Amino acid sequence: MLSLNVKTSKPYNVLIGAGLLDSVAKEISILKKPGKCIIVSDDIVWALYGEKVKADLENAGYNVCEFVFANGENSKNMETVLSILECCFENQLTRSDFAIALGGGIVGDITGFASSIYLRGIDFIQIPTTLLSAIDSSVGGKTGVNCSYGKNLIGAFHQPIKVICDTNTFSTLPYDIYTAGICEALKYGVIRDAALFDEIASMEFDIEKTVYRCIEIKAEIVEKDEFDHGERQLLNFGHTLAHSIEALSDFEISHGHAVGLGMLLISKACESKNLCAKGVSDKIKKALEDYNIEYNNKFSAKELCFAALNDKKRKGDSITLVIPEYMGKCSLYKIKISELEEFITAG
Ligand SMILES: NC(=O)c1ccc[n+]([C@@H]2O[C@H](COP(=O)([O-])OP(=O)(O)OC[C@H]3O[C@@H](n4cnc5c(N)ncnc54)[C@H](O)[C@@H]3O)[C@@H](O)[C@H]2O)c1
Ligand SMILES: [Zn+2]
Repeated sequence: MLSLNVKTSKPYNVLIGAGLLDSVAKEISILKKPGKCIIVSDDIVWALYGEKVKADLENAGYNVCEFVFANGENSKNMETVLSILECCFENQLTRSDFAIALGGGIVGDITGFASSIYLRGIDFIQIPTTLLSAIDSSVGGKTGVNCSYGKNLIGAFHQPIKVICDTNTFSTLPYDIYTAGICEALKYGVIRDAALFDEIASMEFDIEKTVYRCIEIKAEIVEKDEFDHGERQLLNFGHTLAHSIEALSDFEISHGHAVGLGMLLISKACESKNLCAKGVSDKIKKALEDYNIEYNNKFSAKELCFAALNDKKRKGDSITLVIPEYMGKCSLYKIKISELEEFITAG
């Protein structure tokens, strides 16, 4: 088992290991005395792991209720949040009680947000069950839901009090969902650690150590810029175009896979503009190919630019791109919205 501490305004510990789901109650009891808690999960994850976690907590003396919603991005909205809050009221959770997010990034984002507003904020614990949620969404404190104006536009910063990542849960992931997480893992390699990229690209890596290293990189960046005013944007490498790709495909292309393609397109463009060392885009392409992730781009530069106009990162008429300088180093690069199309076409 590996352990690391995230030193944000409210510090917390992250545990990573195979079989940690067997000792959830033991780990939680270090922080929270037996009392009430709500486990929030989606239908798929609940069917796989819900009863086990619930029974473990009940055996340790916790009074557990659950809220299970239909899996998928369609549930990531205010209606689900309201239903969770109602479930908390019905079960009379108080400010000293807590919530557990058992699932992928959608469960984590919704539960975190509901926890941030229930009685003006209660504690919550992340138990990520997808590779993507383990290395990305469960750490860093960004929580929220979608609305008709866009994804993740309603939300709050609310750090968990603990993250418990059982890497055995990845064994039940469909391959596509696993490789969506691989794309985000490769992202950490490009922004901070060339050796990490090579290890993941080799397809033979130690899952615990890799998850640990990805979270370590995220934590290091988040600790410097918890509320996303500057450096945290580095974590968005590949994301400006990814958001367009997701939207243009009517969300047929998953976020993770869109990030894979977004990283490839932006590094190609940067290489042809001599902003990036040659070879980075080829490495990304080879990794996507080896994992059988679609890397052919069906969209025009004009189409890809459209979502940039709606991006949260947009400030006035300019946008900050994350550009790779070489494998393991990325930087922020501001350009005018009007120059974006030409920039992408360069690739
Ligand atoms: N808060 C953040 O910083 C942050 C960062 C990145 C992504 N996100 C958000 O995370 C979400 C994506 O997360 P995700 O990719 O984990 O998606 P997800 O939560 O939808 O999970 C993907 C699918 O896998 C299923 N699943 C989960 N764990 C499983 C398991 N162990 N075995 C079998 N099936 C399992 C789920 O039921 C779901 O159908 C998006 O909404 C995105 O906006 C948030
Ligand atoms: Zn992402």
